Amino acid sequence: MPDGSTSDAFVAFERVQKSYDGETLVVKDLNLSLPKGEFLTMLGPSGSGKTTCLMMLAGFETATHGEILLDGKPINNIPPHKRGIGMVFQNYALFPHMTVAENLSFPLEVRKIGKSEREAKVRRALDMVQMGEFGGRRPAQLSGGQQQRIALARALVFEPELVLMDEPLGALDKQLREHMQFEITRLAHELGITTVYVTHDQTEALTMSDRVAVFDDGRIQQLDPPDTLYESPQNSFVAQFIGENNTLEGVVKEITSDSAVVQLDDGELIDCKPVNVSKVGERTKVSIRPERVEFNKDRLKEDAHLLKATVKEFIYMGDVFRTRLSVAGNDDFVIKSRNAPDQVRLKPGQQIEIGWLPQDCHALDA
Ligand SMILES: Nc1ncnc2c1ncn2[C@@H]1O[C@H](COP(=O)(O)OP(=O)(O)OP(=O)(O)O)[C@@H](O)[C@H]1O
Ligand SMILES: [Mg+2]
Repeated sequence: MPDGSTSDAFVAFERVQKSYDGETLVVKDLNLSLPKGEFLTMLGPSGSGKTTCLMMLAGFETATHGEILLDGKPINNIPPHKRGIGMVFQNYALFPHMTVAENLSFPLEVRKIGKSEREAKVRRALDMVQMGEFGGRRPAQLSGGQQQRIALARALVFEPELVLMDEPLGALDKQLREHMQFEITRLAHELGITTVYVTHDQTEALTMSDRVAVFDDGRIQQLDPPDTLYESPQNSFVAQFIGENNTLEGVVKEITSDSAVVQLDDGELIDCKPVNVSKVGERTKVSIRPERVEFNKDRLKEDAHLLKATVKEFIYMGDVFRTRLSVAGNDDFVIKSRNAPDQVRLKPGQQIEIGWLPQDCHALDA
């Protein structure tokens, strides 16, 4: 999908750059297109340019270079009330002089929706955020989390075509947060809303999104569906940023199009899949997920290169066993195994050998 073609895109960023001070680019070269109905999340460290992108899309900031298109038209040519954009920002203020119900009714009145339909929509939106009882209160009489839920309900009440959300669940406790994650995605899909969602929380990004754009330093480092992002990170930044990850450093010794042998800095050899390394002699960071490491040789190929490991710590977590190993000088090498009846519980001090399928171990940029 991310082939740069924007002809049938509902939202498109084309070579967008943004500088606030005329010197530093905080968005460097953004190309992104979303089809109608997609739920896309921008995920990345603080300061990587996520909010800036959302503000440009909403029309509160203008791009320094490039163009943003909504339904094929440059966004600056569309008046704000015709953009049909619902917004929820982390500190999005509700109207303090109106009750909760009046706050929600307002965007419907602006759109000339009749009284009975308005009331039904307001009721539905309040129930959706579990605030059905609070229609008569004013924002000042609500907790921060409750206000955020009302802000969310207000953004969705007029069933906008495009919703922008910037860390909308940050103030909520874990249980309510998970409930809202589920409700937001269910609603977005049910109503066919296109959503651009910003979060710091990678679990939230993985569980909610059709695709995730991983930002760093004003650029998209990778744009893919959650499973591709987790299982096939395209560079070391993405591998480290998404999920738990083990890293071993070394030099490429052999390489073909689909497999590579890497010599680790302590001299041992391992089998990997070359991702963004291309030649013998190149330094690499090898990345492997904890759940893809095997210590049961039956599950490995006969000629697999194995590494010696010393068990440092065994942690029983209920559904999984999390074991910390010392491997090739790395004392924080973590493996996870499912708590199955035949699963071995490793003990500190034990010497084992570990390995993996080459396709589960990615040779990335150093
Ligand atoms: N109005 C502004 N004027 C000047 N610089 C700004 C302005 N808004 C943001 N910046 C700068 O632009 C960069 C990107 O900021 P942005 O708010 O887009 O990051 P972010 O990815 O949303 O971060 P966070 O996760 O902390 O919200 C930062 O270096 C920030 O200091
Ligand atoms: Mg931000």
